[in-house]
Amino acid sequence: MDGLVVGGKGGSVSGFSNKRNDQRLEERVSAGLERHLPDPKLGEGMVNLANNDYLGLANHLKVKEAAKAAIDLYGCSTAASPLITGFKQPHFELQERLLDWYGTGCVMLWNSGYVANQALFSALPEQDDHVFADRHIHHSVIAGLLRSKAKFHRFPHLDLDRLEECLRKRQGAAGNDFVVTESVFSMDGDCPDLTQLAELRARYGFAWIVDEAHALGWYGERGSGLLEQRGILEQADAVLGTFGKALGSQGAYLLLRREAWRRYLMNFAGEFIYSTYLAPSAAAAAAAAIDLTCRLSQERPLWREGSKQFRRKLRQGGWDVPNGDSPVVPLMLGEVETAMELAERLRAGGVLAGMVRPPTVPQGTSRLRFSLKTNLSLETIADQINQLLGGAEP
Ligand SMILES: Cc1ncc(COP(=O)(O)O)c(C=O)c1O
Repeated sequence: MDGLVVGGKGGSVSGFSNKRNDQRLEERVSAGLERHLPDPKLGEGMVNLANNDYLGLANHLKVKEAAKAAIDLYGCSTAASPLITGFKQPHFELQERLLDWYGTGCVMLWNSGYVANQALFSALPEQDDHVFADRHIHHSVIAGLLRSKAKFHRFPHLDLDRLEECLRKRQGAAGNDFVVTESVFSMDGDCPDLTQLAELRARYGFAWIVDEAHALGWYGERGSGLLEQRGILEQADAVLGTFGKALGSQGAYLLLRREAWRRYLMNFAGEFIYSTYLAPSAAAAAAAAIDLTCRLSQERPLWREGSKQFRRKLRQGGWDVPNGDSPVVPLMLGEVETAMELAERLRAGGVLAGMVRPPTVPQGTSRLRFSLKTNLSLETIADQINQLLGGAEP
């Protein structure tokens, strides 16, 4: 196909050639990996284990009321970037709520977790710095690092001995070291040994950044994540949290140990400076969701037990499902075609699962991804899944 297709309507701009892009797209199509938007009604009336609304807060009455009240007071849009007039009372209150939740550090609100990670990793590490990231780190971190002048290294997934080897070699060399990990990995649902990471930080003195996107609400007495649960929150130099998952809203925050980092990002991160700020309703909804989340400390251990039980049941059905207690449960399959076929089989039976394939995950590790929901009976659903997938080759 020659030329640029405009707006999907098939028009082309003569003289404009985008051959490399066309070829990349063609390769993706022929590998059966082209992405498409789903039907907007997908998931309606189904058991939805594909979205990340783990605690069901996106539709909680109090969260919706908070959003509606903010719309009545502030309208639907901030209509400005935060440094102009986009920073409104709901943003201020949400920042205060977050500081109260963590009891330490300083915060910045962002339009999404993606831009927060991208901004942090493109802006903070400097030319002589080295950044070490788990191989399965989220795309947003990589997007930031590709724009950074710092050296970027990836260590094998969860392999902290390898990380330590790299850190040892860096001792005495010029520049700062950064280490970044997720506390619950978004596609694997597994967790690094955060206590060991905190010990490594004490020994090697790197700046430690932890993405808690999938741990919020699920771990910790107050629900602020796995660092809280492990009692090592104070050891992290920056924590990323997102509002678009367990907190039922949209947007993200960075909790930063150093005020200097906040001032730097506010002055040099284009994602913050030059973008219309998070809608006031999203900020108000997130604050209401945090209030609700804080009160669920009795339930959290039960949800984690439910995750273990869900995994056990699927394994009894003969499936390759790793141990763990997080809200992200992968059912490992390998081939793209198998993942597509089994996702379709579940969908036909009324269960919506994430179908994850390369390049989101490495070749040969296609999988179904279940995002658990605290308002569903997980044991019954695991039985239903086993039944629907019964007869398929594990
Ligand atoms: C680990 C992790 N970090 C960051 C993000 C980005 O967050 P957001 O959806 O708010 O852009 C995601 C979302 O998929 C994620 O899984």
